Amino acid sequence: MNLSSKTFPVPAKLKGHGPARIIAMCNQKGGVGKTTTTINLAAALADYGRKVLVVDFDPQGALSVNLAADYQDAPTIYDLMMSTAVDPKSAIQQTEIENLDIIPANIDLSAAEMNLVTEMGRERVLDGILHKVKDDYDIIFIDCQPSLGLLTVNALTAAHGVLIPMATEFLHCAVLHF
Ligand SMILES: Nc1ncnc2c1ncn2[C@@H]1O[C@H](COP(=O)(O)OP(=O)(O)OP(=O)(O)O)[C@@H](O)[C@H]1O
Ligand SMILES: [Mg+2]
Repeated sequence: MNLSSKTFPVPAKLKGHGPARIIAMCNQKGGVGKTTTTINLAAALADYGRKVLVVDFDPQGALSVNLAADYQDAPTIYDLMMSTAVDPKSAIQQTEIENLDIIPANIDLSAAEMNLVTEMGRERVLDGILHKVKDDYDIIFIDCQPSLGLLTVNALTAAHGVLIPMATEFLHCAVLHF
């Protein structure tokens, strides 16, 4: 197979930035490449001059670890989900990759689902957060956890589109029917 640069179209240069297209990286199956795809797509688009924000929306925090974000002392997506008084821009960190920013996550996020359960409009909390930052970016990727709980519902509600990485193995395919 020819995988030279001629195979892939080069994105056109932009005259300005934003508002962002929001993509949820989602599959209830674990270990299928959601985080890996998020990092590689985000870095490639940043390299093409797109302003990219990645949101770690998995309490495992693998995206934050991989991009060397501060997920212990700095504000995280959990803080934003729990209080509208926290400015979403205060939780955005620059990564070592030019044009690529991150909102980190850590294990605290696992409490969000329980804390939100009695809230009105609980499926639109992430949508409200991203609405405040989307004009600064061309694309926002949400790296979901492997479940179909309230966090994933928030990601799907906020997103314009969904990417579903999957492995071509029987169980990985079968789980998509559930
Ligand atoms: N295209 C690929 N080919 C081979 N291995 C891959 C590919 N993409 C990811 N991997 C490997 O698969 C493993 C799981 O990937 P990753 O952490 O991205 O999955 P995930 O879907 O985010 O997992 P989780 O559901 O736990 O968040 C990692 O070790 C990663 O290096
Ligand atoms: Mg992951």
